[in-house]
Amino acid sequence: MEVENIYVTIKDHIDGHPSESNFELRSAPLSLSIEEGTADIIVKNIYLSIDPYQLNRMKRCSSSQNSVKGAAQLVPGKEIDAIGIGRVVASGNDEFKKDDMVYGQLAWQEYTVVHLGTVLTKIDKPEFPLSYYLGPLGISGFTAYAGLYDICKVKNGEKVFVSTTSGSVGNLVGQFAKLSGCYVVGSTGSKSKVDMLKEKLGFDEAFNYKEEPDLNSALRSYFPEGIDVYFDNVGAEMLEAAVANMNPFGRVAACGAISEYTEKGRRAAAPNMIDVIYKRINIRGYLVSDYFGGHLQDEFLSATADHVRHGLIHVLEDVSRGVESIPSAFAGLFRGDNVGKKLVQVSEF
Ligand SMILES: NC(=O)c1ccc[n+]([C@@H]2O[C@H](COP(=O)([O-])OP(=O)(O)OC[C@H]3O[C@@H](n4cnc5c(N)ncnc54)[C@H](OP(=O)(O)O)[C@@H]3O)[C@@H](O)[C@H]2O)c1
Repeated sequence: MEVENIYVTIKDHIDGHPSESNFELRSAPLSLSIEEGTADIIVKNIYLSIDPYQLNRMKRCSSSQNSVKGAAQLVPGKEIDAIGIGRVVASGNDEFKKDDMVYGQLAWQEYTVVHLGTVLTKIDKPEFPLSYYLGPLGISGFTAYAGLYDICKVKNGEKVFVSTTSGSVGNLVGQFAKLSGCYVVGSTGSKSKVDMLKEKLGFDEAFNYKEEPDLNSALRSYFPEGIDVYFDNVGAEMLEAAVANMNPFGRVAACGAISEYTEKGRRAAAPNMIDVIYKRINIRGYLVSDYFGGHLQDEFLSATADHVRHGLIHVLEDVSRGVESIPSAFAGLFRGDNVGKKLVQVSEF
């Protein structure tokens, strides 16, 4: 059987705020049978992950593009590889059979041909809704867990500040930190998100960064005793203000810098280095992929599954439907449209 496989691509490189008009839908014929002699797997995609880091791959030039394979520059007109979940429809690989549910490197399209060597994992007898394996039990959860517990080594009773707290990674950082007995304050971009963080997720405080003319004094008022841990998802002025308010031996997980992704030539964050030195602050960048296959992964999966099972973590997801909704889902990340993990469901199970 042959299908017309619809995929999303960029029309040209994007250097600035992305919008729907930067993308187009294309299609290519795809045979749903395995080519003789290959170990390919054909996956019908179900959920696709929509992530801010893809914007750095879409740029004409970004230092991120030469860092790791998964951050490589995208080519206009070509498919955009992305993490997702799908169902195997045909397999030339003995480890996978038709109808297996899988998680791994797919693409923003309806079907993906996965070649030997691409990371793909079977989801055997899923205990939770499939989408959770992209959110709390997937990349977002693991990013939050590794940053908070390994990079920042958070301890009970510490004062924790998290930015983009109503987003996918941020909400989980805050929820993990609350479960570890911390005082947690989050920043986000609207009043309704602030209310949700305090009322639904039980954060101690939350504020709308768009309404704070002076981030330094805002943080001073929320942290009269200083910040021990800052989980940074935005970079720029917020990082500078957090460092100015940090306690001696404070730790910063440099997870993302979304406010620096969209403006070409924007001044990068410049935390006060005298503060960093005299307060002995540890600012450390990391990628969740550094942790794949390591001992922390099993610990993360077992602890987080337990929290979800016992209702100790609220799962926040924001799902759009249809491959054609990918451009607006992606552009929406940079307008703050999403609450929780942004996913696109491209087919039914
Ligand atoms: N190091 C790693 O391995 C790793 C892995 C995954 C993600 N990340 C990073 O973690 C961060 C969060 O990713 P995510 O997947 O959880 O995305 P997300 O937070 O679910 O979505 C992005 C959010 O960022 C906020 N935002 C957009 N533009 C902004 C700006 N100019 N200034 C401040 N906030 C802005 C918006 O919420 P508001 O309403 O709050 O504005 C938006 O909802 C990103 O920086 C991402 O690159 C890093």
